[in-house]
Amino acid sequence: MTETATIANVLGSELSLEELWMPFTANRAFKRAPRLLASANGMYYTTVDGRRVLDGTAGLWCVNAGHCREPIVRAVQEAAATLDFAPGFQMGHPYSFALAERVAEMLPGDLDHVFFANSGSEAVDSALKIAMAYFQSKGETQRVRFVGRMRGYHGVGFGGISVGGIEPNRRAYMAQLLPQVDHLAHTHDPARNAFSRGEPSQGAELADDLERIVRERGAETIAAVIVEPMAGSTGVLVPPKGYLKRLRELCDKHGILLIFDEVITGFGRLGAPFAADYFGVVPDLMTVAKGLTNAAVPMGAVFVRHKIYDTVVNSAPAGIELFHGYTYSGHPLAAAAGLATLDVYENEGLFQRAASLAPYWEDALHSLRGLPRVIDIRNLGLVGGVELEPRSGAPGARAFEVFVDCFNRGVMVRVTGDIIAMSPPLIIEKSQIDDVVGTLGDAIKAVA
Ligand SMILES: Cc1ncc(COP(=O)(O)O)c(C=O)c1O
Repeated sequence: MTETATIANVLGSELSLEELWMPFTANRAFKRAPRLLASANGMYYTTVDGRRVLDGTAGLWCVNAGHCREPIVRAVQEAAATLDFAPGFQMGHPYSFALAERVAEMLPGDLDHVFFANSGSEAVDSALKIAMAYFQSKGETQRVRFVGRMRGYHGVGFGGISVGGIEPNRRAYMAQLLPQVDHLAHTHDPARNAFSRGEPSQGAELADDLERIVRERGAETIAAVIVEPMAGSTGVLVPPKGYLKRLRELCDKHGILLIFDEVITGFGRLGAPFAADYFGVVPDLMTVAKGLTNAAVPMGAVFVRHKIYDTVVNSAPAGIELFHGYTYSGHPLAAAAGLATLDVYENEGLFQRAASLAPYWEDALHSLRGLPRVIDIRNLGLVGGVELEPRSGAPGARAFEVFVDCFNRGVMVRVTGDIIAMSPPLIIEKSQIDDVVGTLGDAIKAVA
């Protein structure tokens, strides 16, 4: 490493903000008033000007064990010094096999094989391909269609935006999205469910929308349904009681694979290892990323049920069974980070900790009811969403101002449309929950 590459040097120099094209960011506005984070530890970020900011979002829903945890840092450092890279095509290394074995032990039902990618988006595209490969191998070659859900987020690959249901993410690319995709109605129903604590009671029947698509397309053409068990990125949309069980039953009835995108809900976010455990519904494939490595090194994965691996791999003629993979699938540093992360989760009982904190979190969030412009509050596990009434003619502006105000007051929350979303690291203390929610309340009052 040259001296000019050290963080201290970068921080000490005059930074030009011009050259970097920032993702999912209003670049011009950000560069006029930047928010730059220099370091992180435990529950806190420190900004470049030395302010401490309490992390109410686990980074981007991903740092579930808290920041710069020593065992994870050490594992990554050791892997970097031992095996910086090894090809994953027709070659292997112990780190990725060890992580696959370890993670398979914690999966529900007969999900027992793991395909590695480098992000949630790649995991989703991989899962869609595996679903197609499964039906090709079974001889059901007509089953090629996918069903997503409105207001679903499945990353930004062409597969992910095709099955996703976020209009602005799709608009510019509409002409080239996957052609054979339908969308279920979303489950967000504030008229019936506003201010629900946990799962809303109304709306299980929305799963029956799959029957409409089956009638229109024919079950024999549909490979898979993909949903986030709890939609995170579009503003914490908690599934109605019984909805996911119903969706599972309908997929079984029609021979359709069910994919849970657990990029956010995986690894303890709801107070159980996976949303599949929380809801007692086992999907056929599961996509994960974020909390898999505590975000210390990028990694995504697809978990598949036994029958899928068996059909695609064990029943294939000799040779490569699946023509898909990434240079960095199962990268040694990522796999080492994953192994150390799972140790931290287990040794510190963080999933149970999230479950035991969830009622306190729920009470704290719902104490904001009655503040000006608050039109809904939603929660599940250690996730919270507070929806504000949009300012007339300026959708999203009010919540964005609340987000900036919180940051200036020393708490990081997330904003999506007019919804404030929160998902703190699972190591959060009750007093820090009070700080997050208290600061949010002050900001809402100030901005209203
Ligand atoms: C449910 C879900 N799927 C997929 C993704 C995409 O993950 P990535 O940004 O790592 O590609 C995200 C990211 O937030 C997500 O929430």
